[in-house]
Amino acid sequence: MTETAGPDNPGTARVVAVANQKGGVGKTTTAINLATSLAIAGRRVLVVDVDPQGNLTSGLGSKAQRTEAGTVYDALLVGGNPESFLLSTKVPNLFLVPADRNLTGAEIEMVALGERELRLKRIVDPLRSRFDHVFIDCPPSLGLLTLNALVAADAVLIPLHCEYFALEGLADLVGTMRRVRGGLNPSLEIDGVLLTMYDDRTNLGQLVARDVREFFKEKVFNTIIPRNVKLGEAPSHGMPAALYDAKSRGAAAYAALAKEVLARNAA
Ligand SMILES: Nc1ncnc2c1ncn2[C@@H]1O[C@H](COP(=O)(O)OP(=O)(O)OP(=O)(O)O)[C@@H](O)[C@H]1O
Ligand SMILES: [Mg+2]
Repeated sequence: MTETAGPDNPGTARVVAVANQKGGVGKTTTAINLATSLAIAGRRVLVVDVDPQGNLTSGLGSKAQRTEAGTVYDALLVGGNPESFLLSTKVPNLFLVPADRNLTGAEIEMVALGERELRLKRIVDPLRSRFDHVFIDCPPSLGLLTLNALVAADAVLIPLHCEYFALEGLADLVGTMRRVRGGLNPSLEIDGVLLTMYDDRTNLGQLVARDVREFFKEKVFNTIIPRNVKLGEAPSHGMPAALYDAKSRGAAAYAALAKEVLARNAA
């Protein structure tokens, strides 16, 4: 019997916001490919696109798709039964709450609404009982959509592009997390810091990786995601790397990350 989730029974899924206000650091690539690897490993996984760019939605081959109830925009602005916003994907066990360009206006439209920081949580919490993992793909900003994700989440996964300014701006994210912890979501934690687009041919990558480990210590995942052309190509085919080229280094790296996540969550 499936139990109904509620305040006393939040359900089983761990909800992770994939966030970094810096653009192009691998948030969406990580949400798609980590979620896919976990689904392939037999876990029930949901990804929620809260980025008006809709890259998560198109990267899973669901561009311009919506359920009868609509997209995440309708879920946030109108509400309704959370189940009615779930789309299936090409990956068994992997479901999506899609986004489209309508979401661009949502941040402004939500300002006028009551409990505007809690709207995503209201959608996600009742879905916890159906899934083992929920990933929320954030836009590259610390606006109201990212705030909604941080309030809805148990933890934040921070992808960091292995380049010179990787740590710059992170103080803003950490500060925002602190404010959320002091208010609407006291138990929000850092899930992990993920080094992405690593190029082992350069010293710079190694130096950045060392600095990041010094700063975030054991929060940094052992798995490092290499720069891999297949990871860049797969979204234009509407596929996760594991379907586009299962043997690629990129697909293998995200499969390794999924293993690490499962081991950490079991510990
Ligand atoms: N490991 C990688 N190797 C090669 N290309 C990658 C890798 N990770 C991501 N990319 C490519 O780099 C670009 C940025 O990645 P992605 O969209 O995942 O970043 P993002 O943080 O979600 O960006 P935004 O802030 O715009 O949402 C995309 O074109 C993606 O396909
Ligand atoms: Mg993105």
